[in-house]
Amino acid sequence: MKRTLGVCYYPEHWDESLWAEDAARMVDTGLTWVRIGEFAWSRIEPQPGTFHWDWLDRAIEVLGGAGLRVVLGTPTATPPRWMLDKLPDMLAVDAQGRPRKFGSRRHYCFSHLGYRADARRIAGLMAERYGRHPHIGAWQTDNEYACHDTTLSYSDAARAGFRDWLAQKYQSPDALNRAWGNVFWSMEYDGFDQIDLPNLTVTEPNPSHVLDFRRYASDQVVAFNRAQVEEIRKHSDAPILHNYMGRETSFDHFKVGADLDGASWDSYPIGFLSDRVEADDAHRARFLRQGDPDNQAFHHDLYRAVGKAAKTAGAVPRWWVMEQQPGPVNWAPWNPAPLPGMARLWAWEAFAHGAEAVCYFRWRQAPFAQEQNHAGLLRPDSAPAPALAEAAQVAAELKEVPEEAGCAPAEAALVFDYESAWAWETQPQGRDFSAFALAFSAYKALRRAGLNIDILPPDCADLSGYKLVLAPGLMTISEPLRAALRAFGGIALVGPRAGLRTPDFAIPTPMGPALDGLGVTVALSESLPPGIEVPLEGGGAFATWRDVLEGDAPVVLRSEDGTPAIMGDGPVRVLGGWPTDATWDRLLTEMLPGLGLTHLGLADGLRLRDTASHRFVFNYAPEPAVFEGTEVPPAGVLRLPLG
Ligand code: GAL
Repeated sequence: MKRTLGVCYYPEHWDESLWAEDAARMVDTGLTWVRIGEFAWSRIEPQPGTFHWDWLDRAIEVLGGAGLRVVLGTPTATPPRWMLDKLPDMLAVDAQGRPRKFGSRRHYCFSHLGYRADARRIAGLMAERYGRHPHIGAWQTDNEYACHDTTLSYSDAARAGFRDWLAQKYQSPDALNRAWGNVFWSMEYDGFDQIDLPNLTVTEPNPSHVLDFRRYASDQVVAFNRAQVEEIRKHSDAPILHNYMGRETSFDHFKVGADLDGASWDSYPIGFLSDRVEADDAHRARFLRQGDPDNQAFHHDLYRAVGKAAKTAGAVPRWWVMEQQPGPVNWAPWNPAPLPGMARLWAWEAFAHGAEAVCYFRWRQAPFAQEQNHAGLLRPDSAPAPALAEAAQVAAELKEVPEEAGCAPAEAALVFDYESAWAWETQPQGRDFSAFALAFSAYKALRRAGLNIDILPPDCADLSGYKLVLAPGLMTISEPLRAALRAFGGIALVGPRAGLRTPDFAIPTPMGPALDGLGVTVALSESLPPGIEVPLEGGGAFATWRDVLEGDAPVVLRSEDGTPAIMGDGPVRVLGGWPTDATWDRLLTEMLPGLGLTHLGLADGLRLRDTASHRFVFNYAPEPAVFEGTEVPPAGVLRLPLG
C-alpha cells in the first residue's frame, strides 16, 4: 500500500461551478483522496423520504472524474431538523437532565433505537446507491463519535436500555446487588426497573453502578456503529473506517475498531496542546506553533493498534489520519498559526508511524457558520493558504520515496485500557489522577529514550516481540495479559495503580496486583497534591500517586523513607508510584542497557520513528537541533537509511 495524501471537502458548501476547478487543483497538489458527505444529510434527504441524490452523484463524478478517490461519510452526526419532529425524544440529555438541543451537531442519543434505525437506513441507502461506484475508495461512519462530550446521555432511552443491559448481565437483582455491594447505604434493588441512571444523586453514586453505565454507554457506540457497518457491507467491498478523536476515552475504541477495516483519527496538534494536553506554561509556549512533540505519535500508535483490532477476514488493517490540522483552528482557547513546515512534518510523522493516508482538513476555509476561523488549504477567496504548498511538497516527496506504508516493529510496548480510564475517572482518589495522563507520561518517557513503541490493548496475549513493556494504571490485569506476562522474557513494569480492582469494581482478595510468581501486594495507596513528591533513593521522585508495596519479592528501588518503590528483579516488576518525568528517564536509563537498548536522551523536541528501511527524525523544537552530527532545523524532517 502506497502512502497517500487527501483532503476533506464539502461540495454542498460551494457553488457547483467551483467543483471542477477545485478537483483539478486537488489533483495538481498531488492529493489522492477526497472525503465528502459526512454532514450533508439535510441536502441528501431534505424532507423525510424525499431524496436529492443528483448533486451528490455529480460531485462524485466531478471529483472521481478528475482522478481523485472518494471517501464517503455517512451523515449521521448531523440529523436534520425534521428528525426532531419525527423523533422528539432522540436528543441526548446531559447529566443535569437538560436536553442537548438542535442547532449544531451530534445532538443524538446513542441509546435511541428509533434514531439508530434512521442512521442505519440512511447509511444503507447511501451504500446501496454508491457501494459499487468505481470512484468510492473508502467509507467513514458518522464523524468523531464522542466529540462534544456525547457518549454519555441521561435520556429515557438510555435508562430503558441500561436496565435491559443490566438484566442481561446479572440475570437477577440479587446478583447485581452482590456485585455492586448494594448492602452499603441500603442501596439494594428488588427489580431491574428500579435502577436509575447514576446522575443527580445526592452524593457520589456507587462506583460499580457508574462503571457499568460507562460500559453500557460504550456498548451503545459499538452498536450504533455496527448498524451502519452491516448496511454498508451489504453493498460495498471498500474499507470502512471511522475518524476517532484525540484524547477521547469515553468509549472503547478497540471494540468499535473490531467491526471496521482499520482506524483513522483527526490530528489537531496545536489545538490539542492548547486544550487537552497537561503541560506547564513554558512547555505550552515552547511548542505553541508545533504541538506537543509526543501527542500525535501517541495517537498514531494507539490508533494503529485500534486498526489491528479489525476482525474482517483477510483484510489488511489500515490506519489513516482522516483530518490533519493545516493552520489555525477555531475551537481551542487560543489558536496560533503553525510554524512554517509543521503541516509537512505532521504528515511525515504519521507516515513514519505507518499511516497509509493523511487528509488535510479542509480544502477551503468556510466563510459562514461555526468554523469561519478554521484554516483550510485555501483561503475563503480561494487563494492558497500556507499549508497548500506544504501539502504539495509532501506529495512531491512521496513520489521520491517509494517506500510502502508501514513501520518497523517496536522494541517497547505500552498497555492502554479504556475501562481503566472510566474506573479512575469514577474514583480518582486524587483530583488530578488520570489514567490517560499516566499512560501518556510513560509513553513520553519511552519517546525521550528514542524507542519505537507499540500500544497494546488490555487483553493482548502475546508480548514476545518486545523487550520492554509498561503497564501502568490498569484497573484489572486481564487473564490473557497475565499469561503473556508469565511467558515474557524482557522487562515488564506493572503499576502504579494496576490490578487493584476486580471487574465488578471491588478490592480483590488476595489484594492486587497478585501477579503469578511475584509476591507483591499493594498494601495501601495514597494520592498526593501538586508540588508534593516522594523522593527516591539515588534521585528522582514519585508524584500524584504512590502505592505502598509489600511482599517477599526483592526490592530493587526504595523511596527515601524506606518504602519499596520497585519490587521484583525478574522479567515482571511492580512499580509503586507515578514517576516524575526525570524519574522515568532515570528508570529507563538504568533498565535499557540490560535489554540491549540505549537511552538516547533526545534533545527536547527531537523525536524518532523507524520504518522498515529508514529512521525518521523530527524536530518539534523552535530552534535547530542536532542528531548524530546532522543539524535539523525547526519543523525539520530527516530520513536516514537504517543499517
Ligand atoms: C473535527 C471535526 C471536523 C471539524 C474539525 C475542526 O473535530 O471532525 O468536522 O469540526 O474538527 O477542527
